[in-house]
Amino acid sequence: MLMRFQDQIVAVTGGSTGIGYSAAEAFIAEGASRVYVTGRTAGTLNEAANKLGNRAVPVIADVGTAAGRQSLKAAIEANGDRLDVLFANAGIAEFNKFEETDEAFFDRTFDINVKGVYFTVQSLLPVLKDGGAVVLTGSVVSNKGMADLSVYNASKAAVRSFARSLANDLKARKIRVNTLSPGVTRTPIMAKGLNSTLPPSPASRRKSRSMRRPVVSPSRARSPKPPCSWHRARPATSTASNSRWTAASRRSEPERSPEAPP
Ligand SMILES: NC(=O)c1ccc[n+]([C@@H]2O[C@H](COP(=O)([O-])OP(=O)(O)OC[C@H]3O[C@@H](n4cnc5c(N)ncnc54)[C@H](OP(=O)(O)O)[C@@H]3O)[C@@H](O)[C@H]2O)c1
Repeated sequence: MLMRFQDQIVAVTGGSTGIGYSAAEAFIAEGASRVYVTGRTAGTLNEAANKLGNRAVPVIADVGTAAGRQSLKAAIEANGDRLDVLFANAGIAEFNKFEETDEAFFDRTFDINVKGVYFTVQSLLPVLKDGGAVVLTGSVVSNKGMADLSVYNASKAAVRSFARSLANDLKARKIRVNTLSPGVTRTPIMAKGLNSTLPPSPASRRKSRSMRRPVVSPSRARSPKPPCSWHRARPATSTASNSRWTAASRRSEPERSPEAPP
């Protein structure tokens, strides 16, 4: 049976953990013959590549720097590859109080999330096939104005805008450009400040249910426990109402609390 990415060559920036890792895993499962995965942290990246198997090629590359982006291009060229798919996914997310935000914070987020995405696509154009696909990771926050996330929100709005413009700029080469806009997804990014946006994990829901459980008489205690649905445990006003639980949350982090990333 022909698989969706049979014999295709793919690059996933930020492929060492979270959404990027799950995407790399899915590309391989769907037949990709080589998947380049990047990140800045050698240990995490090599661990990911070992788990992904011999079709994964780890490349330590900071997308926030020209040198990092060039090293990804060089690794692809060294294998004589040309990309069918580029998933420009690497990004950071940190809360910021507007009054306290300094330029260094602003620059760090924009260097990675905005410049990093834009110039990743530009620098890999020579190794991207005509008719290939580019996917950028945006976010549902890009048009939501979530509090204390102004810099991150704006960075993701820029990504969404890039996809629209680049789809036009690259149409002569028949390269498609799209944005993935995830909702809240349980990944290691949560440990870096986004955990208050996260709905409770299955483990913490169980814990809070057991703490809330009233003392009951022995006869009642023997009666079967009523079924409990995820919808009842879910906070009514959290961003979870917009969220879709992605493969990253379902496959890799099912029982982990947001305070305890891998
Ligand atoms: N989780 C969510 O709820 C959510 C929602 C919407 C959008 N997103 C977006 O989804 C993308 C992936 O995030 P995630 O949730 O999967 O978080 P994650 O697990 O922290 O993944 C981020 C990945 O990007 C890499 N990375 C970060 N900065 C980099 C840089 N300068 N150069 C190269 N790699 C870099 C990280 O590795 P190193 O740190 O080792 O470099 C890691 O591999 C991000 O763009 C994020 O903004 C996430």
